[in-house]
Amino acid sequence: MLKTPIIIVNFKTYKESTGDNAIKLAEICNKTAKETKTSIAIAVQSTDIYKISKIVSIPVLSQHIDAIDFGKNTGFLLPESIKQAGAEATLLNHSEHRLDFELLKIFIERAKQAGLKTIVCAKDVEDAKKIAGLSPDFIAVEPPELIGGKISVSEAKPEVISDSVKAIKSINKKIKVLCGAGIHNKDDVKKAVKLGADGILVASGIVKAGNQEAALKDLVDGLI
Ligand code: G3P
Repeated sequence: MLKTPIIIVNFKTYKESTGDNAIKLAEICNKTAKETKTSIAIAVQSTDIYKISKIVSIPVLSQHIDAIDFGKNTGFLLPESIKQAGAEATLLNHSEHRLDFELLKIFIERAKQAGLKTIVCAKDVEDAKKIAGLSPDFIAVEPPELIGGKISVSEAKPEVISDSVKAIKSINKKIKVLCGAGIHNKDDVKKAVKLGADGILVASGIVKAGNQEAALKDLVDGLI
């Protein structure tokens, strides 16, 4: 259950969030969610979904799925396999794994058929409007140029958050709106929520933090 407001930690493929390090960070996210009674979810690499979903009670997400069916496919991520491994949802169309817009509808349908919630990433307000027409469960707006940087979307482009919320909700009120890119402290989170976001996506601010638990707790303070 992806309860909002929510913090989604995208593990990406950083060394600090791969394999055994992914397990350690997943346990930190799980512990923090429990201690602070905050909704936290984690998007892990597909090879880490099964073992992590067995040890945490917070939602585990895939970073991608492929729009394929059971059958003669090699080297792709079957939505049903991702679901059976323990994922509740999947990111789609992340700036680092962009999909052709024409195909995105099929990807969203296949995820839904497999029982996976969809968090579709958008690079700006125009992109978000187009994606809203495909009825994903969540849209995460992330200006690509701010991803991995020190200046957050809340600071550098607050209008992208507020305009995206307005645009998406005017198309489909049921879609939850998240934002991300450069988020690294509670003020970034507080501002994003004030601008109408239902939560945030974060990666380097947590994964590459010297003290991951302290960094996550700081973001949680911005959510409450
Ligand atoms: O999916 C969230 C991610 O793209 C944001 O990255 O490192 O700017 O928090 P980062």
